[in-house]
Parts: sequence; structure tokens; C-alpha cells
Amino acid sequence: MRSRNTCQFGPDESALELEPLVPAVPRVYPSYKSFDGEEHSLNFLHRLASDSRQALLFLATTTETECPRLVKLASDGYGIDPHRMLAARGLAPALYGSASVDGVPPAYVMEYLAPPFLYPPRKSWITLYRFAQKADAQAATRYKAAIRTALDYILRSMEEEGLVHGDLRSNNIMIEIDADGQPTSSGTDGGVRLKVFDFDWGGVDGQVNHPIERNSALWWPAGVGQRIVVGHDREMVGTWFKTHPSAQE
Ligand SMILES: Nc1ncnc2c1ncn2[C@@H]1O[C@H](COP(=O)(O)OP(=O)(O)OP(=O)(O)O)[C@@H](O)[C@H]1O
Ligand SMILES: [Mg+2]
Repeated sequence: MRSRNTCQFGPDESALELEPLVPAVPRVYPSYKSFDGEEHSLNFLHRLASDSRQALLFLATTTETECPRLVKLASDGYGIDPHRMLAARGLAPALYGSASVDGVPPAYVMEYLAPPFLYPPRKSWITLYRFAQKADAQAATRYKAAIRTALDYILRSMEEEGLVHGDLRSNNIMIEIDADGQPTSSGTDGGVRLKVFDFDWGGVDGQVNHPIERNSALWWPAGVGQRIVVGHDREMVGTWFKTHPSAQE
């Protein structure tokens, strides 16, 4: 866990990327519980963005660190198992714990993957979707195989553990980039560094369902209400990756 001194960014800097600041924050979550059962106080800073689609995402500091944590409210379930498993392998933001309060959705506290700042040099994270839109043709060609390598590692990890994500599109995967906007290396296998997030539909193979509310304009591996099973994530990745990078992911 990061200490105060190793925090790579502070609330002020992160705010640069988060305009306009929206003061409204939930007051019903004074604290959260980490997985070892300890209670930590939560100090909400602001919503991640004013966009109503992100109305359930907030930045908060905690008693452990001044580094902003991301807090996500998820009313219809949350795939803690796949999130923690991938996080343990460095393939998802660290999940620190959750807050349960009667009458409101559970809140999940996780590592905030810092977006590109206005003042580099810094390493930062952007979604694969955005990376694909920004990438010039050369960079896209150069990194396509490395991205596939990293995606296959994620898919293999979930398949081995019998866990599913359910919405493994390029806008739910972040890629780490350096100050020049080039992907950093995962070190061992020639892949890039990716982290999966948005585990709202995730869980154990066959124990979670494709939700009723989803974008019907997109291709999905199974119908609304059907079980999400191992294999669906690989099919989903296969579908968008064929044309990656493209603006249609
Ligand atoms: N851990 C994180 N660190 C940094 N940014 C994050 C993190 N989790 C989510 N975000 C940002 O918030 C956006 C929405 O997150 P997420 O996909 O979890 O929410 P959502 O409500 O399911 O949204 P959507 O319907 O757009 O998928 C992401 O695209 C990303 O920009
Ligand atoms: Mg999402």
C-alpha cells in the first residue's frame, strides 16, 4: 500500500483532469471496511466528472493515505472475486474494501488509475478505447500484438479461475502510457501493461447474468438475462479486437 510520501499525485493535481469540479458527494459513507476487517474513514473530494454516466464514481481520501482513491457505487451487484483475483496479478486496480450502509448501494474503494496530466512527464492510464482513437497508424500497428499478449494473459487468468467479467470492452480496460504517450512494457512477456475495471456484471462462471439494461446497439455473446459463462469474455474481446484500433469499439 502506498504511504503518504510515495503518493505520485495529490488531490490538487488530479483535479486538473477532473473539471468541472462537482461538489456534491455522498455523505452516508463515513468509512469503509478493508478485507482484513479494519475500518477506515472516507473523506470524499468530488465526483469523478459531471457527466451523469459517471455519477456513481467519486474520489476520496482515506485515513491510510492522502492519495485519492476511486469510490464506485454499484447498486446491482459487483464482481469482487474477479476484481480481487486480477488485482492480485496486477491486472486490475487494487480493491481496498467496501462500505455497506442500509438503504444505499454498496461502495467499493479502489486504486485510482491516474489519467494523463497536463504537465508531463508522468506515467498514466487511459482506456484502450481512447488509446485506439489517439494512436497514429504506426503506433497502432506496433502495439497491436503486445496488447493482444496482455489481453490473452487476462483472459487466461480468468478462465483458469472460473471467473467472468461480462463487459470486457476496450472502454473497460486501461493501458499504461509514458510521458510520450507510448505504452509501457509489462516486463516479462513483451506485453503492454493493462488493467481491467468495471466489474459490475462480473462474478463466478455461470452465477451471474447478462443485465437487462445494456447497449442494444452492440454485439453481445448471449441474450439479456442469460448466464455469463467462461468463454463470453474471450468472444467479446475477439469481436472488438478484430478492428482494433478503431473508433467503433
Ligand atoms: N479505478 C479507476 N481509476 C481511474 N479511472 C477510473 C477507474 N474506474 C473507472 N474510471 C473511470 O470512470 C469511467 C467509468 O467507469 P466504469 O466503467 O467503472 O463505470 P460505469 O458506470 O460502468 O460506466 P460506463 O457505463 O461508462 O461503463 C471509466 O471510463 C474511467 O474513465
Ligand atoms: Mg464501464
